[in-house]
Amino acid sequence: MSALREAERAALIAAAVAMKDRAYCPYSHFPVGAALLDDRGTTHVGCNVENASYPVGLCAERAAIANAVSAGARRFRAIAIATNLHDPVAPCGMCRQALSEFAPDLPCLLVGVDGAVLERPLGALLPERFGPANLAEVQS
Ligand code: THU
Repeated sequence: MSALREAERAALIAAAVAMKDRAYCPYSHFPVGAALLDDRGTTHVGCNVENASYPVGLCAERAAIANAVSAGARRFRAIAIATNLHDPVAPCGMCRQALSEFAPDLPCLLVGVDGAVLERPLGALLPERFGPANLAEVQS
C-alpha cells in the first residue's frame, strides 16, 4: 500500500481530531477520535461510545473499523487516533488486535491535543500477533 501524501495525512489527522467532538464519554471524560483511510481514498471515522454498564463501551478505533467494514472497506492505508492528552496515545490492546485483522502493519498516526504526531506501524505496537493464519492451521 502506498505511503500517504502530505495532504492525505493532514486530512486524516483533521478527521480524527474532529471526531473527538462526537465522543460519548460521560464516565471517563476521555474523548477519542479515529479516522481510518481505505485503499479507495474514503475515510471512515469513529469515536468512543461509553455505556452506564462500563464494559459495554466501545473504543473509537473499533467504531471506525465497524463503520469501514459496514461500508464495504477491508483494505486500509492508515489510521489517525486523537485524544486530548498532550502526548500522543497508542491504541489499547483490544483495538490493536482488531486493526491487525485487516492491516497487520497499518501506519498509525497518534495525535496529541497540541498537534504532536507520533507514527508507528501497527506491527511495532502488536508484535507476534495472533491472526487468521493461526486459525487456518487447524481449520484446513
Ligand atoms: N479508548 C478508546 O476509544 N481507544 C483506545 O485505544 C483507548 C481507550 C476510550 C475507551 C473509553 O471510552 C475511554 O477511552 C477511556 O478508557
